[in-house]
Amino acid sequence: MGPEYFQALVFSWFELHGRKSLPWQLPPEPYRVWLSEIMLQQTQVTTVIPYFERFIQHFPSVEALAKAPLDDVLHYWSGLGYYARARNLHKTAGIIANQYGGRFPQTLAELVELPGIGRSTAGAIASLSMGQSEAILDGNVKRVLCRFFAIQGWSGNSAILKRLWAISEQLTPKHKAGNYNQAMMDLGATVCKRSNPDCPQCPLKDDCLALKKNLVSELPTPKKR
Ligand code: ADE
Repeated sequence: MGPEYFQALVFSWFELHGRKSLPWQLPPEPYRVWLSEIMLQQTQVTTVIPYFERFIQHFPSVEALAKAPLDDVLHYWSGLGYYARARNLHKTAGIIANQYGGRFPQTLAELVELPGIGRSTAGAIASLSMGQSEAILDGNVKRVLCRFFAIQGWSGNSAILKRLWAISEQLTPKHKAGNYNQAMMDLGATVCKRSNPDCPQCPLKDDCLALKKNLVSELPTPKKR
C-alpha cells in the first residue's frame, strides 16, 4: 500500500469519526492549539477540556499569558499536574511576546526552540493551526504505526524512533496535513487503543501487519524491565 492509499483511508475515517469540534479547534488559532497540545501531552482530552476553557478565559492571548504572574498561571493549571509544563508555557509566552511581537513563530525550526515544544508538538502546531505539511509522532501515532507496520522494539530506542519518524514523514500528506494528523491522533485514542483496541472498526485493518500476524496485543513493544 502506498502513502496515497493510506492517507485516503485515514481521511475517509476522519470525515465520519474524527474530532472536529474540540474547543481548541473553534477556531484553531496557534495560541489555542499550542495551549491544548501542552495540556494534552500527559492528560486525556476529556480531562483537558474544562481546564482549557478556564485557562483561555483568564489568559485570552499569548500576551495576556506573558503578562500574568507565574503564580496565576500555576493556579489555573493546578489539577493537571506536571507543573514544568505550566512553567515552560509561561516562559514561552514571554519569548513570543518579547522576541516575536506577540505573533507565533511560523516555522518548525523556530517552534522547536521554544521551551516545552518538542518535535511532535511543533509539528502539531504547524499542521493543525498554520496549514503546514509537518509530521507528528505522539504516543497515539506511534502506536498506530508500530502496529500497522508490525515494528518490534521499544520506541525509546533511537533506531526505532528514527524509523517511526521516517514513516510518519513519508505518510504525512502535502495538503490537509492538519486533518490527517488529527485523524491519526483520534484513531490512536479511540480505536487503536493500548488495551482493548477496536480492530473491527479500524479503517486500516485490511493491511495492518500486527493484526495479520496476531501481534496487536504485543505492540508497541514496552520498555524492557
Ligand atoms: N492528543 C494530543 N493532541 C491531540 C489532539 N489535537 N486531539 C486529540 N488528542 C490529542
